[in-house]
Amino acid sequence: MSLPPKLDPPTRTLLGPGPSPVSSRVLKALSLPVVGHLDPEFLKIMDQSMAMLREVFQTKNRLALPMSGTGSAGMETCFVNVIEPGDSVLIGVNGVFGTRMVDVAERCGAQVDAVQAEWGSALDPQQFRAALAKKKYKLTAVVHAETSTGVLQPLDEIARLVHENGSLLLVDSVTSLGGAPVRVDELGIDICYSGTQKCLGCPPGLSPVTFNERAIEVIHNRKRKVQSWYLDLSMIEKYWGSERIYHHTAPISLNYALHEALRIVLEEGLEASWQRHRQVHETFVREMHKLELEPAVAESIRAPMINTVKIPERVDDAKVRQRLYDEFNIEIGAGLGPLKGKVWRVGLMGHGSRVENVELLAKALKQLI
Ligand SMILES: Cc1ncc(COP(=O)(O)O)c(C=O)c1O
Repeated sequence: MSLPPKLDPPTRTLLGPGPSPVSSRVLKALSLPVVGHLDPEFLKIMDQSMAMLREVFQTKNRLALPMSGTGSAGMETCFVNVIEPGDSVLIGVNGVFGTRMVDVAERCGAQVDAVQAEWGSALDPQQFRAALAKKKYKLTAVVHAETSTGVLQPLDEIARLVHENGSLLLVDSVTSLGGAPVRVDELGIDICYSGTQKCLGCPPGLSPVTFNERAIEVIHNRKRKVQSWYLDLSMIEKYWGSERIYHHTAPISLNYALHEALRIVLEEGLEASWQRHRQVHETFVREMHKLELEPAVAESIRAPMINTVKIPERVDDAKVRQRLYDEFNIEIGAGLGPLKGKVWRVGLMGHGSRVENVELLAKALKQLI
């Protein structure tokens, strides 16, 4: 074969639903010398990353580690480790990722009930109350920031109702972690997974997860083995814990990148990061209003890091997004499912959550719509 040319990807301003822009510090970490996955220096890095993940998840959980694989690997990790065939699971569905959780839970053999809400609305705690009053669920799962719609789900009341039922609470924080408070311990979230490529400002490829002792006990008391060898936490915790037993070769360079990305988040401070995401989101709403692009989600439930705006009837959705790529090197996201063609999704996440990016996009859109 003739050799393809050397890679030369464009430098995009990533304002889509993820991946988000990666800072030069994190890119530099990716090019550090690769060491072995049991090298004493790497073991130190692992411990430091776990400690930083605990901070970011706001938890004292022993088990907080990055699974190898993207956010979906984190999602599968949470379900396959806890669920056994026949278990009852309740899932909130108001977008793509709630729908995906139902699919994953069903593949584990769970009996799944769903609390539904229209895409673009929040899940109603009263519907959880009604469902939880009828049945005891082993696990209840909700998405915190539904990336397909831009809704930030209020969690407090649902968390309380789930615990009254005795169910474990699982929260998807793929898009929210680092950009909005997730409060794992305060809310009593038993199981939580995230992704690296959103508000943590790292390339895709790892999925931070955390399980509290109650959830770990459920794993240790399983009747049968976890059906996924690769995602079996009872083995993975022996590599990340004091035993250091080889399970799979950790993606060393990505772990370096996450380590640096977490250092950046904590250097800024979690509160400051949440505030920055909120302020940049507010600037975005103001700037889009000037262009007659209005938010698609009610103000009280808008996720600051993933913004959906309604596309005016006169505007050609695909053409504008293509021209943003071609003429401005900017990526934004299309609508999905029932929102296809109706909204744009603008990610202002992590290193990308900056007023300059809002201004850049506003200037470009002014010429295109
Ligand atoms: C809320 C949410 N959950 C899960 C996922 C799946 O993550 P990944 O695409 O990294 O596998 C995503 C990805 O965008 C997401 O936004």
